[in-house]
Amino acid sequence: MAQLVSDFGHQLPPLLPSPVRSADADPFASLVGRRGRTGQAAGWTAVPAPLAVYRMTSEQVGGVWPLIAGDGLPPAGAMLGIDYLSGGAFSADPIGWTLDNVAGVTNPNMIFFGAPGRGKSGTVKMFALRQMAYGYRTLVLGDVKDEYEPLCRALQVQPHAVGHGLPARINPLDFGPLGNDWTRLPRAEAQRRAAMVFSRWLLLIRGLVGSQHVPFGPTAETAVGLVLRDLTGYTDGADRMREITIPQLWQALRAPSAELVDACRYADRQHFLDETRPVRDALGALVTGHLAGLFDAPTTVSVDWRAPIQSLSLSRLDPLGDEAVGVALTCLNSWGRAMTQLAEPGDLRIVIRDECWKQMRLGTDAVKSLDADLRLSRNDGCIQVVIAHKPSDMLTVGDAGSQAVAIAKDLLHLCATKVLLGQDDQIGDELSDLLGLSPMAEQIVTDWAAAARGRALWLVGSHVAKVQTVRTSLDVALTDTNDAITAPATGAVPASTEAR
Ligand SMILES: Nc1ncnc2c1ncn2[C@@H]1O[C@H](COP(=O)(O)OP(=O)(O)OP(=O)(O)O)[C@@H](O)[C@H]1O
Ligand SMILES: [Mg+2]
Repeated sequence: MAQLVSDFGHQLPPLLPSPVRSADADPFASLVGRRGRTGQAAGWTAVPAPLAVYRMTSEQVGGVWPLIAGDGLPPAGAMLGIDYLSGGAFSADPIGWTLDNVAGVTNPNMIFFGAPGRGKSGTVKMFALRQMAYGYRTLVLGDVKDEYEPLCRALQVQPHAVGHGLPARINPLDFGPLGNDWTRLPRAEAQRRAAMVFSRWLLLIRGLVGSQHVPFGPTAETAVGLVLRDLTGYTDGADRMREITIPQLWQALRAPSAELVDACRYADRQHFLDETRPVRDALGALVTGHLAGLFDAPTTVSVDWRAPIQSLSLSRLDPLGDEAVGVALTCLNSWGRAMTQLAEPGDLRIVIRDECWKQMRLGTDAVKSLDADLRLSRNDGCIQVVIAHKPSDMLTVGDAGSQAVAIAKDLLHLCATKVLLGQDDQIGDELSDLLGLSPMAEQIVTDWAAAARGRALWLVGSHVAKVQTVRTSLDVALTDTNDAITAPATGAVPASTEAR
């Protein structure tokens, strides 16, 4: 001990010689007899220790004994930063949490809330990048601000940009990843895939038609389904399906064959045309309206479905309005669904929906589709990441009391992990109401997390973590989204403008 202390420049005080004890002294000189001592007040009695008793809730315990710390989460998955409640490193592994039932996590979905510029997208990018080391692939379902481009480039993947004047075209009726190696497939597998393709297309057309506020009833569905089978050559039993486009579908609905009218059980051709007019007009908007030239030809971008990340930049669609962005997001959603349907066991994916309200505003079908994806994530090994500013964003998807709003409210409960970055006091109250936050947790969101970027309260099932995300120098370059503001001051040209 003296050696150890001297290494640090101190010296132990010298030991005093122990007092000399008389060896002969008998410690039990006066023994007490079996009846004890006699005399007044000479006895002994047990008295309880003078303890003060306090009663408090577990929330107040932390205030009275602030040094009590909970256990952190297991150190598995993407290490993101420091958890100030446990004092340890914080790692996120939603699939691991689900499999091990950590803190009652029952699904790997994550939802991020935070005021603009708090670092939501940055945290998600770091999460995706660090999970790649564990074999996860990332699909960005529509990059509406082109902010995932630097991340893609860093991973040697060229992001695709869609917009007027650009060569990229997206065919909503593309086979997507299901089209890979189609001809070499055994017959049963080809039939299985064909069934998946047709049901996905029908869902997609329902969404596209719904985005124009036109109902898509069962009769229209039968007509469209028959036309799709006909045009692809599936009805004739061809082993190779032809790629078709929205204009071809539109044309076929405008000039129905006698067999089609008959198969849909319309009285005559005119009856068919009258009944399917709203659907035709909604599809026509994609062919002849201001969206013409974007979604009406075969896909020209070759998306590598096996790359570590895939992203489609949509910021050039912004001037065309939310509808154009919404249509692109609907198509991408459909491709994303196909990709996860095709995934083999162990093929782990992170699907990112940044600015997700843009897609949800398209209507009930878009909300239903997101709802279905979140419910399926447990089965297809997919971490669905939804990013929004505040919970009430979700409630703007429809009229109060509508089905869309009811489903949107439920979406919160389909995400076992909720990440709450800094918010104003008012939104803090809203969060507390919807998520049942304790006053202390609400304060972390409105005070501590709002004081710096990248800070968040992580609700992992029933576990709470107070996390500061730590960026490496590489992350700083990949997550910086302030270039549009800082470029004029420094005279630098933002990277995204260069690309344009
Ligand atoms: N963990 C972090 N630590 C420090 N700064 C960060 C962190 N994450 C992001 N930032 C910085 O904060 C800025 C805004 O980040 P980001 O774009 O991710 O915010 P956001 O919440 O997604 O904003 P928006 O709602 O506008 O999409 C970025 O320029 C980035 O440099
Ligand atoms: Mg963002």
